[in-house]
Amino acid sequence: MRDQIEALLAAAVSELTANGTLPADLSPRIQLDRPRDKSHGDFACNLAMMLAKPAKQNPRALAEAIIAALPVNTVIAKAEIAGPGFINFTVDSHQLIAQLENAWQDEHLGVAVATKPQTVVIDYSSPNLAKEMHVGHLRSTIIGDAVARTLRLQGHQVIAQNHVGDWGTQFGMLLAHMEDEMRDQNSARLQLSDLETFYKAAKKRFDEEEGFADRARTLVVKLQSGDSHCQQLWQEFIDTSLEHCQEVYDRLGVGLTRSDVMAESAYNDDLPQIIEDLRAKGLLVEDQGAQCVFLDEFKGKEDEPLPIIVQKKDGGFLYATTDLAAVRYRTQELKADRVIYVVDARQSLHFDQIFTLSAKAGYVSNQVRMEHLGFGMVLGKDGRPYKSRDGGVTKLADLLNEAERRALELIAGKGSDLTASEQADVARVVGIASVKYADLSKNRTSDYMFDWDTMLSFEGNTAPYLLYACTRVKSLFQKAQLSLRDVQGEIQLATEQDEALANKLARFPEVVATVGNKGMPHFLCGYMFELAGAFSSFYEACPILNSEDEALRNSRLKLAALTARTLETGLGLLGIETLERM
Ligand code: ARG
Repeated sequence: MRDQIEALLAAAVSELTANGTLPADLSPRIQLDRPRDKSHGDFACNLAMMLAKPAKQNPRALAEAIIAALPVNTVIAKAEIAGPGFINFTVDSHQLIAQLENAWQDEHLGVAVATKPQTVVIDYSSPNLAKEMHVGHLRSTIIGDAVARTLRLQGHQVIAQNHVGDWGTQFGMLLAHMEDEMRDQNSARLQLSDLETFYKAAKKRFDEEEGFADRARTLVVKLQSGDSHCQQLWQEFIDTSLEHCQEVYDRLGVGLTRSDVMAESAYNDDLPQIIEDLRAKGLLVEDQGAQCVFLDEFKGKEDEPLPIIVQKKDGGFLYATTDLAAVRYRTQELKADRVIYVVDARQSLHFDQIFTLSAKAGYVSNQVRMEHLGFGMVLGKDGRPYKSRDGGVTKLADLLNEAERRALELIAGKGSDLTASEQADVARVVGIASVKYADLSKNRTSDYMFDWDTMLSFEGNTAPYLLYACTRVKSLFQKAQLSLRDVQGEIQLATEQDEALANKLARFPEVVATVGNKGMPHFLCGYMFELAGAFSSFYEACPILNSEDEALRNSRLKLAALTARTLETGLGLLGIETLERM
């Protein structure tokens, strides 16, 4: 519906351009907003105010001219001028109903399939494998997954890339420690079962034990020159670490698998060529023995030149070099139209530099959209980075255990009539959903406070609230002995609450489009919260099963079923399971 009104406005603008009301050289961006206040209609636009100046006209007069120039249509029931020159549109209720009937028939609830599907590469999760995944990896993993699911629903081809850190000097000390442990145990599997402890032990020896650090350094060199013993040890370490990651992904309901792993080490052989490419483009400068690129776009605080180091004096390559190789692979081999990096906001300078440099190196054309979707930190209640009780970083696996434990306590405490094993299952879903939803519902660009009590609450914009709303519809259908799909008859908008719910339901495709475009799942969460609220008011005010009028009863069942399907699809986009009962 939004598209239709935007198209009508575009037609009005060309009409006004043709008749000379508007100057010929304008091509305004036509964009509709959703007014907060329902009395301002369904959509609003500030087009007249935007164009008034260049057209040398009074905005209200121009708004009037725009309305008069709108082509005849069946979409807009009312167009009114408000304030300094806003145009408010009220949608024709037949159109609204037609849209919802259409959504009802559609498996994807009316979400438009992209007319030009893109190949979108999404770099997400991407932990360093030296340690176990901790709370800092939560955001990239679940935001990336939600964006991937959204773009897939829109018909794009999504290629996930888990750019895990499996290379670098840290592996020297891990291998040295592993070598010793294996000598005693024959297998390092056991020691690696707790990577965190293993890492700490290796680090302690590296810092304290004489000769250990040297041995670690030698092992890195051997590893990098392809020594088979080192490679074998390293591979065992990496395999175990990836198994730990996979467990976390599976528990989180994140779609990543081993086949999405494209590790840093996979680019090793490409790195010398990257240096050569930069040299050929005249971008390389030697600075104290290191190979660097200085770009005018990037200056330090004092306006001093800021180097991007791509090769160290000893010949070693860096994080940036690998990222350049990854860009090249993604655009040239994977043929990406869009490349998305879901990475901590603190790396934004790095990505700015990589994007600018890869354009200069000829790895990305200006057709390709390169995006860093940065996110803030997870904070504890004290406003400092979230820590475990012992003050260390919280392992993600432990965090999820705690979520499930707390959810179980909550459910059991409410006096449930479910069996113990059913309760455990509900607790698993609720616990994981709560952690994910609390994160996804915040604007990713800011830091957020991790707080068990709020995220597990049945009130507010939380997972339990939405999951509960779904089960409410389901129990309604159970009572009616109907399935969510078999409702007859047409939607009718009998009361204010029916209409409000219908209006919310109709917005779903727009919201999905916004999430796909901006890579911001919190818009979907905010929407679902509003939808569940509209459903709740509807449910309280409107008799459904008790409605004497059969047509009205069917209409309401349909609206209720659409609500459940929309919430399920929406939660599905976040990788959150729903429940039949809770
Ligand atoms: N492994 C990195 C880290 O933990 C994140 C990698 C993000 N992706 C990339 N292409 N640089 O900070």
